[in-house]
Amino acid sequence: MTIAVCPGSFDPVTNGHLDIFKRAAAHFEEVIVLVTGNPTKTSGMFSVKERVQLIRQVTADVSNISVDFWGGLLVDYTTEHNVTALVKGLRSALDYEYELPMAQMNRRLSGVDTYFLLTDEKYGYTSSSLCKEVVKYGGDVTGLVPDVVVAAMKEKLS
Ligand code: PNS
Repeated sequence: MTIAVCPGSFDPVTNGHLDIFKRAAAHFEEVIVLVTGNPTKTSGMFSVKERVQLIRQVTADVSNISVDFWGGLLVDYTTEHNVTALVKGLRSALDYEYELPMAQMNRRLSGVDTYFLLTDEKYGYTSSSLCKEVVKYGGDVTGLVPDVVVAAMKEKLS
């Protein structure tokens, strides 16, 4: 069984993330989307539990994707759950610079390899933080995040 983890803060999940999860699910037998962060703290727009719930809703149609959360070191989770791969999306060279040391550190700590999928060009400029900013000032992010996330963001700000 090849189990891959897609880790991230996902505050909130975007259609760019969702595209990566689904493409990972086509290559690995099981994919766990892992929301990282302290589950008892609310430091972003959504709590860790709310982020998990939203991702569960938008991945419900893919049978080999599950969703979990973790407040510790990523490699402790991968070792405990026999995860053989991490999968992340790359939008640009900026992402590459950010991801490279983490991938190398994770491999050094546990032997787990990170696989990078190039972000679909439609989502090249999409990020959770940019979407939150647009929504905060009344802009529309329909099509960039799932519809349930658009509604949840509007509710948070109302
Ligand atoms: O969505 P993000 O913020 O880019 O995700 C970064 C994430 C969550 C993958 C990274 O911060 C992480 O792995 N956090 C868990 C703690 C950890 O293992 N840190 C060392 C990474 S080398």
